[in-house]
Amino acid sequence: MKTMELIRGRRSVRTFDGEVIREEHEWKLREFAGKVENPYDIPITWKLLDADVHGLSSPVIVGTDKFIAGKMHRVPHAEEAFGYTFEKIVLFAESLGVGTTWIAGTMDRAAFERAMKLEEGEVLPCVSPLGYPAKKMSLRESMMRKGVKADSRLPFETLFFDGSFDKPLTESSAGALADVLEAVRLAPSAVNKQPWRVVICGDKAHFYEKRSKGFAAKNGWDMQKIDMGIALCHFELAAQECGYGVSFELSDPALPITEDVQYIASYCVREAK
Ligand SMILES: Cc1cc2nc3c(=O)[nH]c(=O)nc-3n(C[C@H](O)[C@H](O)[C@H](O)COP(=O)(O)O)c2cc1C
Repeated sequence: MKTMELIRGRRSVRTFDGEVIREEHEWKLREFAGKVENPYDIPITWKLLDADVHGLSSPVIVGTDKFIAGKMHRVPHAEEAFGYTFEKIVLFAESLGVGTTWIAGTMDRAAFERAMKLEEGEVLPCVSPLGYPAKKMSLRESMMRKGVKADSRLPFETLFFDGSFDKPLTESSAGALADVLEAVRLAPSAVNKQPWRVVICGDKAHFYEKRSKGFAAKNGWDMQKIDMGIALCHFELAAQECGYGVSFELSDPALPITEDVQYIASYCVREAK
């Protein structure tokens, strides 16, 4: 299935139909997760876990006992690397018809950390349930979706800019890049805050994080950088599908920005020959 269809079709699934995940799907997910790389070259260990074996639970998830979790060393750019990598796994699961939900908060974190044998200096950023979506969402799930306006996203011109932050980019003026940026716009994010901002300068797409209040933890961990990794993943996959060549760069163009905005990374985008 095409990436753009997967991105458009994905939503968080919190109500599953109770069917045990098929062995073939479990095997494919394990194989895919074991191979997927990230532009920061930061290793991440993935495991599929059974809730009953490890005593795992999430108060928002019903109808499945299977979870996937990842752990890594707490190093610079860990958040972006995790976001990028886990979103590739999420979209692969979507291609198999397996539903997921990014979960960083609403889970028994201690139980997941025990199950992953988390060691000193390691972090378990998020987990996700794996299973087949139920036909009808639980009332709790419907209410959660309404609470964070999960079905809507910020307008194109709030998120994307032409050369500098004082020049919003409209969908019609984005030309051939419009579809690629739309893939970024549709990405999932913690509490649906959508912290990504992208400034297009010639053949470069510069990604910035516009921080929301109350997300950065005292220990420096910034969950919204996970969202940024998801945005980078969507950009790269959609650009490749649209036939562009892309290369990842960490090279701050030093554009004027406000205090709540931080440079994250860039992609150099080349027309396909
Ligand atoms: C980093 C991250 C953390 C999240 N943590 C939670 C969580 O703890 N519990 C939850 O129910 N949803 C969580 N979500 C799911 C978001 O609420 C959801 O992606 C967003 O509302 C958009 O809805 P959608 O995924 O259906 O498009 C998280 C998403 C991301 C990207």
